[in-house]
This record gives sequence, structure tokens and C-alpha cells, in this order.
Amino acid sequence: MNINILHTTSIPAEYDVAIIPFFEDKQLLVSELSDTLTPYLAANDIFKGKEESTYIFTTVQNKKLVHYILAGLGNQKDFSAEILANSIGLALKAASAKKISHACVLLDNIKPDFLSEHHISSAAKASALGAYKFDKFLSDKKEDLHIDTITFVSSCDCAKSAVKNGAATADFITIARELVDEPANIMKPSLLAKRAKEVCEKAGLEIEIFNREDIAKLQMNAFLNVAKGSDEEPKLIVMRYHGNPSSNEITALVGKGLTYDSGGYSIKPTSSMLTMKSDMGGSAAVIGAMAAIAASAPKINIVGIVAACENMISGHAYLPGDILTSMSGKTIEIVNTDAEGRLTLADAITYAIRKENASRIVDICTLTGAAVVALSEEYAGIITKDTALWNDVEQASEKSLEPVWRMPINKALEKKNKSSVADLKNSGGRWGGCSSAGAFVGEFTEGKPWVHMDIAGTAFIETEKPYFRAGATGYGVHLLCELVKIWAEK
Ligand code: BES
Ligand code: MN
Ligand code: ZN
Repeated sequence: MNINILHTTSIPAEYDVAIIPFFEDKQLLVSELSDTLTPYLAANDIFKGKEESTYIFTTVQNKKLVHYILAGLGNQKDFSAEILANSIGLALKAASAKKISHACVLLDNIKPDFLSEHHISSAAKASALGAYKFDKFLSDKKEDLHIDTITFVSSCDCAKSAVKNGAATADFITIARELVDEPANIMKPSLLAKRAKEVCEKAGLEIEIFNREDIAKLQMNAFLNVAKGSDEEPKLIVMRYHGNPSSNEITALVGKGLTYDSGGYSIKPTSSMLTMKSDMGGSAAVIGAMAAIAASAPKINIVGIVAACENMISGHAYLPGDILTSMSGKTIEIVNTDAEGRLTLADAITYAIRKENASRIVDICTLTGAAVVALSEEYAGIITKDTALWNDVEQASEKSLEPVWRMPINKALEKKNKSSVADLKNSGGRWGGCSSAGAFVGEFTEGKPWVHMDIAGTAFIETEKPYFRAGATGYGVHLLCELVKIWAEK
């Protein structure tokens, strides 16, 4: 997909489809199209400019078919970057049914006071994300999206950099989506490590990959126990970005990297297992974010950490009732082998603090079904004890258009993870499952500033969204990148 910008006040000479956004007042600012559009705008029952509505029609111009899509933005006072991104996404979806290759988006139909750089970059990002499809295994590729070029037309001075940034962000998000959509028979821990290496080499990032023997030497026993039921070798992936060499502060981004989660002996029902190739969505977000961070070059030090493995059943697998000693020294009673993600995260965080000198921790993970029950596919569940950090996450989320919701943590929720035979147990039970899982992870942060992001609902979706098909979303790539930018500027 080619996304470009035409910095002009007039409409381009050639296009197959023109997308024109309208508020409910249906004011036409692009006067060159007045003859073509006015009859449609005047007929009140055809198009009302309502949010998420589109109207498509076709004309013949110089013996060629030219399509027009009126894209509703709703009323002016509720307008936001998200509404614009959704409306452009939906319009491109409507266009995708036609055999057309070149779409243009006429942003000048929105008054400049309503448009910021953020609005335009969000629209560009959305249009690129909307074009993504995972069809590499389809022999008969559904050619349902023919558009290969989208031109944003805008006289706004910020449009050039906005479109460029939005399209670039989409490329980093696409890295994550491709990793997550790849099925688990292919996306093994070793392939995840290899892909991370390719991404880092391209981005100019340092990367170190540890194998089973190295992981054993580090005494990452919680991680190793989850991995040991599988024939696939676990990999510890460490990516480093040195943006502020004069500072000792290092922020760790720790991503859950279960390339498959069968549940282990606490086996999942088939229906829940079906999407468990996506259980490395957190690690994909970290890998995509590391590349995005390298490209935007903030003045901050970041280490990206992924403890990648599979949760499988075999004669070598860990068992309910086992007691492990984690890298931190804390002992853990295994009450459910399906609560594996927190075990891998525990050791990854201890590694971040003790071996990489991390002074601040963000973990991102497809950790609990409870997060999906509470927040559906709409919000990531965020846990942090520090309201200043929560405010930063909220601010980043406004930029990235990835919704977040703060989930509670307190002593009572932390107590759910207490065991009578070990320091901790790996499940606090069903009630408040998102919070108690987060609290378990928090036990390993050694009092450092910490943010936990449970993306079980948002990383991989069953119901399509205005600019996301069902499948991997790359949730977290943009959020982490914006969060890091906020911290770099503090
Ligand atoms: N990977 C799952 C969580 C998950 C569920 C991700 C749905 C994406 C969609 C995690 O490892 C898990 O199995 N969690 C258990 C924990 C329970 C056993 C305490 C869960 O949520 O059921
Ligand atoms: Mn599990
Ligand atoms: Zn899992």
C-alpha cells in the first residue's frame, strides 16, 4: 500500500475514487465538486453525514468510471481524531468492493480549525491498517481490496509530516500483526527470535538472544518450567536502544511471548485454544515498538525483553502442585499450569532489573481471560500503583487511539496470590482475575515504577473494527512508542 500526500488546495486530476468527509451540516468546501456532489447532498434521505455512515456512488467522466464516497463525521462538537480515522477506514472498506486502484481523501472538506497533525496522522495510520490482510496461506486470494495507492489531499501545512508519520506508525504496527497472525506451527520461539533479530538489524538496535542453556545459567526457573513441556527451545530475546547514554535510567518493556498456550496439564477447552497462537501479542508489541522507538529516536534508554516459549503437554511438562524457585528467589506453587504467562513475566522482569539494570518496568501481555470478560475487545486493562504513570498511559492512549482502562490493585487483591506452601501461588482464582494476575507480576518489580498492560482482549479480535479486520491488531506498538516519547520529554 502506497500512502502519499498532495499538498494542494485543488483536487487531483486523476483518481478512481474520491473520499469526501462531511459533518452533519453537509457543508461542501471543495467547490470544484459542487456540480457532482450537490444533488446527492441535497437529497436528504441519501446521506445525513452521521458518524460511521458512508454513501458511495459512481459517475462516468471522460468515458471512465469515477467513484465518490461521502464519509460521515457526525456533529462538529463531538469530532475527534478517532472519528476521522474510523470514517476514513469505513470509507475505504466501502471502496474495497470496487475494482479501483487509486483513492484520494479530500481533507480540505474539513475546516482547518478542526484538523490537527494528530487528526491527519491518525487518518493516514487508519487507512494503512485497514488495508492489512493475512492471506499468505490462501491459494485463491480474495482480491477484495484493490486499492494500491491512497493520496491524502490537504492544503494544511502539517499534512506532509502527519501523513508520513501515520503511515510509518502503521508499518511498525504491521510488524506486530504479521508476527501474531503467523500460526503456531510456524511461529516457534526460535522464529520469533529470528524475526526480532531481523527487525533490530534493520532498525539499528542491539539484540542478544539467549538459548535454553543460557536461560538455565541465569536460573530463570519459572520461565524454564513453563517451557519444558515443549520440544521447542525457549529463547530470551533482549533488544537495547541507547537513546540517552549520559543517563543511568533504563526503561524495560517486557512482552509476554507464548508462541502457543495449550494450557498445559490444566488444559484449555478446544474453543479457547483456537486463538492461542496470539499469546505472543505482548512480545510482538514490544518488537514493533522497539523498531518504532529507534525510528523516532527519543532521548531515553529502553530495553525490550521477551521470554519466548510454548506451553505444552508432555512427559517433561510442569504439573499442578509443583513448587518452583523463580530467578528472584521467590518460590511459587503451581496451582494451574494455564496461568503460565505470569511465570515467564516474573523471570523476565527479574532479568530486566538484575541483569539490565532496569529502573522502570512496563509489561504487556495477553494475560487473562478475565480482562476480556471485563473489557471485551475494546480496552486494555492497565494496572499501576502510581497515578502519575497512569496519567502518562492515558495521554499516550489519546495519541495512539488504543483505549485503556485502569484496573484496581490493593493489598486484598495481592493477598489472593499467597500460598500456604510457597511464597506465592500462580493463580488467585477466578474473581478479579485480571487484578490478581497483575498483582502477581507486580511481586517481581522490586518496588520500581511499574505499569502492567493486559491486552488479552485487544491484541487479537474476533469482531472487525472500522479499520481492523478480525485477527491481529498490533495493539500496544503505538501506545508503547507514545508512552516512551512522553517519558523521554520529562
Ligand atoms: N493466554 C491466556 C489468557 C488469554 C485468554 C489470552 C483469552 C487471550 C484470550 C492465559 O495464559 C491464561 O490461560 N489465563 C488463565 C488464567 C487462569 C488459569 C488463572 C485464564 O485467564 O483463564
Ligand atoms: Mn494460559
Ligand atoms: Zn497464556
